[in-house]
Amino acid sequence: MSPSRSAGGRAAPLRLGVLFSGAGSNLKAILEACERGAIDAEVRVAITNRPRAAGCAFSRDRGIPTLVIPRNAFPGREAQQAAFRQACVDHGVELVIQAGFDQILDSAFVAEFRDRMINLHPSLLPAFGGGMHAVRDALDWGAKVTGVTVHIANDDLDAGPIVLQEAVAIEEEDTEETLLARIHEVEHRLLPAAIQLFAEGRVRVAGRRAHILPPK
Ligand code: GRF
Repeated sequence: MSPSRSAGGRAAPLRLGVLFSGAGSNLKAILEACERGAIDAEVRVAITNRPRAAGCAFSRDRGIPTLVIPRNAFPGREAQQAAFRQACVDHGVELVIQAGFDQILDSAFVAEFRDRMINLHPSLLPAFGGGMHAVRDALDWGAKVTGVTVHIANDDLDAGPIVLQEAVAIEEEDTEETLLARIHEVEHRLLPAAIQLFAEGRVRVAGRRAHILPPK
């Protein structure tokens, strides 16, 4: 009997590994999109480097393997990175999502998941890349527009090929908090949309560009 096919034409959902360090609102958005059937994907493993990351509850409550892999449990950075990598390999991960993950993945990890790893960044890259405070930086700069970028993660920090971007206007009365809230709204839509493009096999990386192919 042939396996049933989903709307995206896949025989089985795209297997995701989600790396996060904090609140995990994007992990939650991905889990909910999977549950609604809005994306042809499933979270096979959620991994955090922060034992107190609030996001752990979202995946644990759904019975999804949720691993805590903190830096101080390993003799060195390389060993911790190898544990991240092994966990993704062991869970058959096809696409790695960095959703608010605050460590840079080493070249061995990147090599294992080349062009199969995406990062979420709260600005319109290449503006306000390379740091952990892109929302505050855009406000401090006096920018009138910022936004959200989903890009292929590679060895160059915040500089891999861009998959999706969406602009967010900065209003005169914005504080970091109000702007971040609007950025989150966009992230919670854009990240699942990017995952669906991968599920449909519509992302082709060529040099600096991630081409989005038409629907099949
Ligand atoms: C997001 O704003 C993301 O762009 C940034 O870290 C934040 C993570 O938020 N890299 P959450 O933990 O998913 O709520």
